[in-house]
Amino acid sequence: MTERAAGSGSASASASASASASASGSESGSESESESGSGSESGPESGSESGSESGPESGPESGPESESGSGLAEVEAAAAKLARRFRGQAEACLQLGSPLYSALSLRAAESIADRGPIWDVVSPMADLPGGAMLTLRFLGATHRLALAGQAPALAAHYPSCGGDGDAAAAWAALVDLCQSSPEAVTELLDRGVQTNEVGRAAALLPGFLAVAASTGLPLRLLEVGASGGLNLRWDHFRYAGWGPASSQVDQGDPWSGGPRPELSPAWSPQLVASRRGCDVAPIDPSSSDGRLTLLSFVWPDMARRFALLDGACAVAASVGAPVDQASADDWLSAHLASPEAGLATVVYHSVMLQYLSPSVRSRLLATIASAGAAATRAAPLAWLRLEPIGGDLAGDMEVRLTTWPGAEDRRLAIAHPHGTWVRWEA
Ligand SMILES: C[S@@+](CC[C@H](N)C(=O)[O-])C[C@H]1O[C@@H](n2cnc3c(N)ncnc32)[C@H](O)[C@@H]1O
Repeated sequence: MTERAAGSGSASASASASASASASGSESGSESESESGSGSESGPESGSESGSESGPESGPESGPESESGSGLAEVEAAAAKLARRFRGQAEACLQLGSPLYSALSLRAAESIADRGPIWDVVSPMADLPGGAMLTLRFLGATHRLALAGQAPALAAHYPSCGGDGDAAAAWAALVDLCQSSPEAVTELLDRGVQTNEVGRAAALLPGFLAVAASTGLPLRLLEVGASGGLNLRWDHFRYAGWGPASSQVDQGDPWSGGPRPELSPAWSPQLVASRRGCDVAPIDPSSSDGRLTLLSFVWPDMARRFALLDGACAVAASVGAPVDQASADDWLSAHLASPEAGLATVVYHSVMLQYLSPSVRSRLLATIASAGAAATRAAPLAWLRLEPIGGDLAGDMEVRLTTWPGAEDRRLAIAHPHGTWVRWEA
């Protein structure tokens, strides 16, 4: 559906409404989880990244057992809450294609509820807000040890490490790891979840092309919350025949089974004039530590995601795309301060709005709206995003595009949170 906002004020209101829906979903997701026990904060992998925004505000707090005056009932309540989160994560992992992590999360939930070996490791962090995704921090931390050769018994059952995918055997190895090397695991729990999902480029691609087609201008890419910056190289990936034939990333056909978007203009090295991103915690995909971080947060039995990540890291080695360490609001305000004539500026993001504090989010949206109001045909602006629909972190996501001048806003597609499928609507 296409909406034409009357002016920048309306555009801003529409933008804010969409963002605040996401934001409230994120917040209420975490809150309601603690009350209803729905575990809804462990959204798709969207949830997986919630932790990445966890800066100082969501950093570790003293565990429930260390609080003065806290009694057994309080510890039991904390364990029960965390167990619910792990159960919710098990459900999300199953829906999104990781039966291995689903099985491990379910067993971890039992161990936590019984205050067994997994509780012993995660309990110091049990006060983390739901959005900080302790579930995925724990799974990512132990996966990292397996990938790094520090947990060979676990690696023997993780397909990502060449293992057999046997969930029962992986569970035994996971328990053993937590009992034999608890410090190695707890040390890594401090790290927020950091996923850079290459499949999301497939959901965004037709939006980029729509901007290029309608403006006839080369694109100036500005990605906020870019993580490792892999999706700043989206034009170097291949999708259903579009893109460089020699690309190391083949996204297949994410639109199969539904209407196809117009993949035009055709691929050309001149399509993108410049690319730059920001993140509060950028990852360097060319460093071994950065690569290990990115790999550790992909679920071990999701081979397609690993293949895309591997390919995108290889692309990143030859296509430069700086990611500045900065908060999205400050960074974008600096980069949109003066319009760039002769280029179509595309501000974009995927699965990141929910991680912003309300003040950062409103500053970001206000910056986009006022840059939109100042946009001209010679220096147009587009805002492309893949975010949860109405803030529902556990559901599908939507791709939206707003373009200026004109403040035209439309939903382009509904998509799987990893871009595995994209249902084209525009
Ligand atoms: C869920 S990840 C998504 C990464 C990437 N957009 C993707 O889809 O693969 C969210 C990213 O937002 C970043 N982030 C969180 N708060 C931010 C902020 N205030 N400014 C910039 N980036 C932020 C996190 O560090 C993380 O890399």
